[in-house]
Amino acid sequence: MSRSAVKVGSEEHKSLFCRDFMRTYSDYDPETLPWPELDPDALQRLRSVPFWQEVLHTELRAGAIVKAFTGTIDDPVLKEAVELQGFEEARHAHLIRVMIRRYGIDAAEVPLDPLPRDIETAFKDFGFGECVDSFLGFGVFKIAKEAGFLPESMFRIFETLMYEETRHIVFFVNWMAWRQVQLGRGARWIRGATALRYYYRALKRLVGTARRGAALNDGKEFSATQASMFLDGFTFRRFLEDCYGENKRRMSEFGADLLRPSFLPALTDMALASLRLWSFRRAPEAAK
Ligand SMILES: [Fe+2]
Ligand SMILES: [Fe+2]
Repeated sequence: MSRSAVKVGSEEHKSLFCRDFMRTYSDYDPETLPWPELDPDALQRLRSVPFWQEVLHTELRAGAIVKAFTGTIDDPVLKEAVELQGFEEARHAHLIRVMIRRYGIDAAEVPLDPLPRDIETAFKDFGFGECVDSFLGFGVFKIAKEAGFLPESMFRIFETLMYEETRHIVFFVNWMAWRQVQLGRGARWIRGATALRYYYRALKRLVGTARRGAALNDGKEFSATQASMFLDGFTFRRFLEDCYGENKRRMSEFGADLLRPSFLPALTDMALASLRLWSFRRAPEAAK
């Protein structure tokens, strides 16, 4: 996490990240967003995205976890902010639901499993999961937008969602640090080790979800034409650069005194430096 002038875990820190979160709220109703008419090709592309059902389910579960966690908070300032996040997650689910209905996407609403008993740990797992999903999502979003996968007007709607997820993860990493100080585990190295443990769990879950998704979508995956929109000129290095660059750009919109997720950006930075060194070393050989 980045350095901050405000003492992490202090009362001042808490009111800063809660106030910032409340201040940056935007009011809208998913039903009345300017949903565009899509031409048959764009409609086909939107319908062929294999993960809408997973996205809907994730947002519904997010809403339920955050709502349940809100019920356990006593501090009124914090409670109000977490409650707002729960409302926004439920609104995300509704936004996806409206989109599925409007464009005739083949995705069902699967009932939620019962929530874990330890709701604070569930909230933490969910928060770190959001950090991972958002970081990767930033890159995918940029590539899809540049490829013209859908019209600009559709990306403007998704942008609302991306911005809110960015707010959520900024709020979350600040809350997490504050909470650890409250629990007497505020030393930097302890916070770092805890984050590492949660990131590991989040990445493991992501791999599991991707595997399940691949099995579920067997036979109805992206057609070659749709995939080529993404894959023409796609390299792993470019993807990492987009995730890193977009994360930096989006994070720069938040107050300098707030902490930001730092694990994945640091890891990506290291990976990119190695890739650059690798291609630099290979270049003379290739020229032979
Ligand atoms: Fe969400
Ligand atoms: Fe979120």
